[in-house]
Amino acid sequence: MSPSQSSPDASNSESTGQAPANSLGQAAGRLGMDFGTAVEPWHLDDPDLEPIMRAEFSVIEAENSMKFGPIHPREGAALEAFDFEGPDRLANFARNNGMKLRGHTLVWHQQNPAWLTTGRLTAEQLAKTMEEHIEVVAGRFRDTIYAWDVVNEAFNDDGTMRSTIWYDQPGIGMAGQGTAYLERAFRLARQADPKALLFYNDYDAEMLGAKSDAIYAMCRDFRDRGIPLDGIGFQGHLIMQMNTGEALDSVQANFERFANLGLVIHVTELDIRLSSGTPEAFAEQADFYRKFVELCRRQDAVKLIQMWGISDRDSWIPGWFEGFGWPLLWDSKMKKKPAYFAVLEALRSTLSSAPSSRGRSDAGSTADSA
Ligand code: G3I
Repeated sequence: MSPSQSSPDASNSESTGQAPANSLGQAAGRLGMDFGTAVEPWHLDDPDLEPIMRAEFSVIEAENSMKFGPIHPREGAALEAFDFEGPDRLANFARNNGMKLRGHTLVWHQQNPAWLTTGRLTAEQLAKTMEEHIEVVAGRFRDTIYAWDVVNEAFNDDGTMRSTIWYDQPGIGMAGQGTAYLERAFRLARQADPKALLFYNDYDAEMLGAKSDAIYAMCRDFRDRGIPLDGIGFQGHLIMQMNTGEALDSVQANFERFANLGLVIHVTELDIRLSSGTPEAFAEQADFYRKFVELCRRQDAVKLIQMWGISDRDSWIPGWFEGFGWPLLWDSKMKKKPAYFAVLEALRSTLSSAPSSRGRSDAGSTADSA
């Protein structure tokens, strides 16, 4: 990645005389940020994807292979209960290519193994299981993973606590006690890995609203009481209807209040789904990507923008939202889309002085960025 820059406009190659950054990771690096993507271990064997991963991104994250089910498929805490093959491959790849590795995720209600979800385990046993899982998994990657999504998606859209195996089905003994089980998870993660940044991660929390209010209240409480929470992950599974000034203002105000708590912000799972793959739709999508990346640049606390996959061929969207697709920066034939060029340009250009615009004052190498 590029060397440190000293002025807020250092990203603009015209103002520095420097050659323009020629990858997303490099362009973000000049702003003191990272640009990442979710990957699967088998992507390392894919001749289309692997070179893009290496060339374009400064962070990778396991799309699925570090979730509880895939990484801890068998009962118990002995090494044989875990499957580290895929995650270890990703860790080695990141290390060998000077990339950061992000961990996703230790505590979630989805993708849990059958042995955990049959209803056989008591609250006490589940508490022990969560403890052992965090200890072993976060412990194993303590020198490799720089940031963990410790808990994922614990809130409902209305801001109430989601009913899950970890909270109240039967939970780990803290059912009905709000965010107490998350607090436990964050404390365990800190014990297992004292250096990694610890994140709470959720979707549909980018704008002001009931869900982001509840998450904000938890974050403020955790920060006030010294619970080890370092960052907030906004997933960023966006829809085109959000491409309005009003929606973007709401995102900006929301990011601002989390930043004011002293939290690092990561956009963790960015994609913008479309209902058609026409050139017009691609142009509108590119416009939204550009505005969203500019918004991220205007908030100094945003240290990572991470895509939820590389190409439209491999995205989770068509399998989950009937009639939708085309959400990423490369098309299904691995060709860069207008959105790719819009994002690169948004990272490279000098920001216009929009009303709330602030130059990033923290430009520096990615090694310094969180
Ligand atoms: O690995 C199995 C394979 O063995 C089996 O043959 C195949 C048959 O369906 O399924 C494979 O597992 C699938 C897995 O992705 C790996 O491809 C699961 O069925 C499928 O449900 C799973 O979907 C993932 C989803 O999380 C699970 O909830 C998506 O790929 C993944 O993109 C998505 O990621 C989540 C984030 O973790 C959290 N935020 C939301 C985001 C999108 O849902």
